[in-house]
Amino acid sequence: MDRILINGGNPLKGDVRINGAKNSALKLMAASLLCDEPLTLTNMPDLADTRFMAQLLKHLGVEVSRQNGSSMVLHAKALAEPYAPYDLVRKMRATFNVLGPLLARRGRARVSLPGGCAIGARPVDLHLKALEAMGAQIELDEGYALAKAPKGLHGAMINFPFVSVGATEHAMLAAVLARGETVLENAAREPEIADLAACLNAMGARVEGGGSARIIITGVDHLNSATHRVVPDRIEAGTYALAVAATGGDVCIKNCDPAHLGALWDRMRAIGVSVQLVDEQSVRIIQSDRRCQAADVETQAYPGFPTDLQAQFMAVVCRAEGASIIRETIFENRFMHAPELSRLGADITVHGREAVVHGVEVLHGAPVMATDLRASVSLVIAGLAAKGQTEVNRVYHLDRGFEGLERKLGALGADIKRVSGP
Ligand code: EPZ
Repeated sequence: MDRILINGGNPLKGDVRINGAKNSALKLMAASLLCDEPLTLTNMPDLADTRFMAQLLKHLGVEVSRQNGSSMVLHAKALAEPYAPYDLVRKMRATFNVLGPLLARRGRARVSLPGGCAIGARPVDLHLKALEAMGAQIELDEGYALAKAPKGLHGAMINFPFVSVGATEHAMLAAVLARGETVLENAAREPEIADLAACLNAMGARVEGGGSARIIITGVDHLNSATHRVVPDRIEAGTYALAVAATGGDVCIKNCDPAHLGALWDRMRAIGVSVQLVDEQSVRIIQSDRRCQAADVETQAYPGFPTDLQAQFMAVVCRAEGASIIRETIFENRFMHAPELSRLGADITVHGREAVVHGVEVLHGAPVMATDLRASVSLVIAGLAAKGQTEVNRVYHLDRGFEGLERKLGALGADIKRVSGP
């Protein structure tokens, strides 16, 4: 199994280019099921998760091909049996979002329930309620959602009791081909939602308000071929920014959208890092070799501080001067990185959804084990800032969401390499 070896202590310097967003790409890929003409996605990241989604879509009858490196063409000309088996769903929750498009296009579908994961139980009740409000009849049987819409899906008023990115996207994907108007209240406002709305509209859908708390979708009969550029990955951009905060250095992060990371910039400035907005696609992060200041963080739905950057922020404040309180409000079990960071010498105490981090002057390299995607990259960040060698195991988590991580960090001056074998 691959491991990553890091000899910490090097400041990061230079430019880094950000890829398209994983969490947008996966839902855009699902959107291809809605249309019998090709959907071309550009700025597509090449990740274990996008390859896994491609595998499921191929199973469902979609022709998927990569072109010119970062483009993908998905053509759902004729769909196969609308059945998504457990083995093609269990590894990644975003696969469940094929249920709505399959129902919209085929009127029936059998899709495995995704199950829990390392960061929490993560139910799909809001997804199912939204589809039922649009006329779907859904039974849960032996771990599968068996859904049918014999009279087709129809528009509905859906008021989400709390914000869910996946449920908002799922409802949008189902509503674009439903009869009549669907109104989503208390919708998630993440940039990935606005991106999905833009792609669906390019395909001929009528979606208004994507990226706001109220989305109005007027159903159409048919979608058409389109080309769409995937929004830049704000979590990848934020991860590199936090890596510079941890190691010191001067890095220009390019091909990103700094406007999507306002809450992060606020917290980075609070810990003493210089964040300079260069233009609409680049941001420059400068940090001297002195220690950061402590600062508190609470994760929130967008535009709040992203839960997907919580672990990376924690890695940075492990070496800050003073104590930081980190509150996780989105997922109930997202501090699995804390005991691993403690193996490097961090002083972290977790009480339920709150972690108190007392900054220490020095972290020391050690073997650590990743439990999920963002946790594993937080261990890489801590390793870059630690004295001596850190070995990050279970690297397959990183491959789910960070394309070319060692290559990009190496080009910025980090001493990092991947090794295979026992
Ligand atoms: C998306 O997950 C992202 N994944 C997550 O990124 C991200 O952390 C999360 O949004 C929040 O920003 C993808 O886009 C593929 P939610 P999602 O529905 O859609 C609860 C990463 O590392 N809930 O907004 O699953 C849920 O358990 C991943 O890239 C229900 O109770 O998140 C959670 O506590 C991790 N019932 C909260 O809502 C439901 O039906 C928010 O989840 C749906 C969600």
